[in-house]
Amino acid sequence: VEILSGIFEGRTTGAPLCGIIRNTNTRSKDYHPELPRPGHADLAAYIKYNGFADYRGGGHFSGRITGPLTFAGALCKQILEEKGIKISAKIIRLAGIEGDGLTPEMEAAVLDAKEQLDSVGGVISCEITGLPAGLGSPFFGSAESRLSAMMFSVPAVKGIEFGAGFSIADMRGSKANDPIAIEDGKFYTKSNNNGGINGGITNGMPLTFRVAIKPTPSIAQKQETVNLATMENETLEIHGRHDPCIVPRAVPVIEAAAAICILDMTLD
Ligand SMILES: Cc1cc2nc3c(=O)[nH]c(=O)nc-3n(C[C@H](O)[C@H](O)[C@H](O)COP(=O)(O)O)c2cc1C
Repeated sequence: VEILSGIFEGRTTGAPLCGIIRNTNTRSKDYHPELPRPGHADLAAYIKYNGFADYRGGGHFSGRITGPLTFAGALCKQILEEKGIKISAKIIRLAGIEGDGLTPEMEAAVLDAKEQLDSVGGVISCEITGLPAGLGSPFFGSAESRLSAMMFSVPAVKGIEFGAGFSIADMRGSKANDPIAIEDGKFYTKSNNNGGINGGITNGMPLTFRVAIKPTPSIAQKQETVNLATMENETLEIHGRHDPCIVPRAVPVIEAAAAICILDMTLD
């Protein structure tokens, strides 16, 4: 990141903070405006912007847009760390394989998908520790609402769950409820099925959530699409440079997005 303004001698100055990441390695000819990629935003953008969207590199819908997010997020993380708040994300599932971080089995699954001109997705878990109780507000400004809105702004995120998430639906109340306790005058809960949030408000326990990342939409296999010039059905083979798996690259993005959102909440 080339920082243009807002930082002087290693400190933010209060002036607008502006950084630029110059993309010096583009191959716009890999992108075909008339053949929208299934699973990507090409057709939606074509319809919304009446054919005037910049399709090169996926335009505004490119994963590249997450670069600036990590720049802003890195700064927010530093401010949060001074308050004792830490954010860490990791891969917990990839191509259906469970694990604590990226494993050799997961890597093999990515390479296998690549060989078959295909792609795979996965799940990233994120934990935020050191959060004070009381952040977030009921209803629209709930901690879950705000984090969800932020996470769905990250391309390829298709789901989010907090704490025990969807599995809480299968639990009995006696298991799902987190027993409340006190030690040295400080409240805590003995389990954390609610992911550190009750009523949209942080309860002082670690805030935990998981996001589902879909498989990279741009795959080299032959796929069905339409030709926007002829308005006929057509097949498409993508020959661009696309990772067969986005998940490892999305880990710092999820941390950054969470940092921006959490810092905002602490400023409220
Ligand atoms: C870090 C990151 C990198 C990405 N790289 C690619 C890529 O190389 N090729 C691709 O087709 N999609 C890539 N994506 C996903 C697309 O940007 C995304 O699927 C698309 O914008 C459509 O949005 P949606 O999946 O949220 O509906 C990437 C996403 C992220 C977060």
